[in-house]
Amino acid sequence: MNSAKTYVNKHKDRFISELLDLLKIPSISADSKYKEDVRNMAEATRAALEKAGCEHVEICETPGYPIVYGEKIIDPDLPTVLVYGHYDVQPPDPMNLWDSPPFEPVIKNTELHPEGAIFARGSCDDKGQFYMHVKALEYMTSTNQLPCNVKFMIEGEEEVGSVSLGWFVERNHDKLANDVILISDTGMIAKDIPSITTGLRGLSYVEVEVTGPNRDLHSGLYGGAVANPINILAKMIASLHDDNKHITIPGFYDDVEVLTAEERAKMAEAPFDKEAYKKALDIEDVYGEEGYTTNERNSIRPTLDVNGIWGGYTGEGAKTVIASQAFAKISMRLVPHQDWEKITELFKNHFESIAPKGVTVKVKPHHGGEAYVTPIDSIGYQAASKAYEDTFGKTPVPQRSGGSIPIVALFEKELKSKTILMGFGLDSDAIHSPNEHFGIWNYLKGIETIPLFYHYYTQLVKEA
Ligand code: BES
Ligand code: MN
Ligand code: MN
Repeated sequence: MNSAKTYVNKHKDRFISELLDLLKIPSISADSKYKEDVRNMAEATRAALEKAGCEHVEICETPGYPIVYGEKIIDPDLPTVLVYGHYDVQPPDPMNLWDSPPFEPVIKNTELHPEGAIFARGSCDDKGQFYMHVKALEYMTSTNQLPCNVKFMIEGEEEVGSVSLGWFVERNHDKLANDVILISDTGMIAKDIPSITTGLRGLSYVEVEVTGPNRDLHSGLYGGAVANPINILAKMIASLHDDNKHITIPGFYDDVEVLTAEERAKMAEAPFDKEAYKKALDIEDVYGEEGYTTNERNSIRPTLDVNGIWGGYTGEGAKTVIASQAFAKISMRLVPHQDWEKITELFKNHFESIAPKGVTVKVKPHHGGEAYVTPIDSIGYQAASKAYEDTFGKTPVPQRSGGSIPIVALFEKELKSKTILMGFGLDSDAIHSPNEHFGIWNYLKGIETIPLFYHYYTQLVKEA
């Protein structure tokens, strides 16, 4: 059953041009200026699902951006696959670092993508990847090869915490009932090293505010005599790691999952080229928690990172001033068994406790979610593995990712099903960064591989 390849070959130009059209819509969920575009993107997603053979396609309203839902139920006795993706994208800034405008997609060849890559915000994260599923569905419905039931749920707030999706899932258990959840919103190791993501980190995202004097002050007249909120904030942040790059918040590591030596040895088998890694980032050396490898640091260990910091004068030239306030946005990536609300609380208590007299500190929690790990002996994983074997000619490597899709843990809690993460992006695709791109080879390979998942999944369920 590999006529998917033939079908993809025949229709690839259209598959690409349809994706380019979606990439022209600036569906930036974080910025309310783009409200109408986000809604237009929901409508475009609805139309695409309908065209691909989905039935009962609807735009489901929520307190926030809508969720696009559709299904194709061929026989209630057959298994049901629920596909999840997101139609919203990250803000494109800094704009000046883009070689071409983020919402005017262009195809260019790169060293890793000699077949061409589509450059645009959302090309890989996640429009290109969820659209692979839409095209895989088109193939299966139009050639009468859909072997089981399928439901689609594409949301518009993933990049801002999936708050409305949580609301929607809690209220729609029956509608969303499924046997397995399938997502393409992660990556793989390399084009010749297929991998399946078996873990995602959790997240706690907070904003902090340090306030000193009641107004901005002359840095000569007052300098040295009052607490400078920016100096203080920098010192407080620096103190959150010790010399071994361990996080110093009391209790932070209490619940962290400890992997056995065997599990770590197994992880270390995944191919990793440290020199290439450093070269790709133009860094002289890697940096991170003592006692762990790079792959462990960015997957099985929790982190704390400043994502933005501001305050005072940042315009042209010099201005001698002590700012009244300083701010930072901080993310903590969490691992299994760490409760994001508990971690947020620990951070808040600790951060407030280390503030010296002369400033006041406020910690504002944003959003968060739990980590997720999926077993590799499930029928879903086995089906995905067989699908990659067919299209890549190799058994995919199971790999935990450092990224987060917080809603996945909630799916398990609310819908009681496991998620299979079939990502086709590469780390070098620059998601969330300027010049985000998605390889055309990866895009088409995804469309070819996905129908095989349905095929093997249905077969394995019947055999079980
Ligand atoms: N698709 C990414 C997550 C991802 C990318 C996981 C690559 C694994 C590999 C998703 O859109 C994302 O960006 N998630 C956010 C969290 C969210 C709450 C804003 C993240 O990881 O920063
Ligand atoms: Mn994503
Ligand atoms: Mn993202």
